Amino acid sequence: MRASKYEAKGMTLTTGVKGLDELLGGGVARGVILQVYGPFATGKTTFAMQVGLLNEGKVAYVDTEGGFSPERLKQMAESRGLDPEKALSKFIIFEPMDLNEQRRIISKLKTVVSDKFSLVVVDSLTAHYRAEGSRDHVELAKQLQVLQWLARKKNVAVIVVNQVYYDSNTNTLRPIAEHTLGYRTKDILRFEKFRVGVRLAVLERHRFRPEGGIVYFKITDKGIEDVLKAKPENGEENI
Ligand SMILES: Nc1ncnc2c1ncn2[C@@H]1O[C@H](COP(=O)(O)OP(=O)(O)OP(=O)(O)O)[C@@H](O)[C@H]1O
Ligand SMILES: [Mg+2]
Repeated sequence: MRASKYEAKGMTLTTGVKGLDELLGGGVARGVILQVYGPFATGKTTFAMQVGLLNEGKVAYVDTEGGFSPERLKQMAESRGLDPEKALSKFIIFEPMDLNEQRRIISKLKTVVSDKFSLVVVDSLTAHYRAEGSRDHVELAKQLQVLQWLARKKNVAVIVVNQVYYDSNTNTLRPIAEHTLGYRTKDILRFEKFRVGVRLAVLERHRFRPEGGIVYFKITDKGIEDVLKAKPENGEENI
């Protein structure tokens, strides 16, 4: 029997963090949009760059915040014994300056993304939306529809990064355009600061995994890495 396209290409992309791969049911799935949201400096960009770095195939990276750093990517590659220039050449970077340009670029990805690609990242989907004070939920929904099309038809993984705002009614940090994104991203990871250099990821929603799972990870030269659980008997690193 002929192998399905999923078997041929592998259904998931590794995050390079064992705990996160397990949390996500094997890794970042092709054919699906994963939303990663959380406060600044929690590792969202590092996570997206690392998934691109560690897996076969090209990456279309839509950088709306100027957060993508070639220096950081090269540092992550070098620390892992990978060729930094080769790593950088896998990434095709797009830098839309406003929500209109973002729409045009995401639309253009329909022709740009070929079977050589394994990942599309929009980092973040909501920065321009927020900065422009836009209430155009329909516009965001349309962009997500195109990203969904890309995920399915091109069999790539799609990571959509999202920011947070403080909701004084509930005293919590909520994702921007929560409902618009919530209906259209079936897998959702929330990143939080735990302590210096250590972050935690909470699985808020998943197609086939229980919600609420928590994994700790640390940010290093390599990018993001597992934090080993405390094991006093052999002195492994505590979180
Ligand atoms: N070489 C390194 N070693 C350890 N930590 C690093 C290194 N390089 C960057 N960091 C840390 O990574 C964090 C930033 O990560 P990242 O840019 O992925 O966050 P983010 O969630 O995308 O933030 P934002 O919302 O501002 O875009 C900062 O705390 C920074 O100090
Ligand atoms: Mg970022």
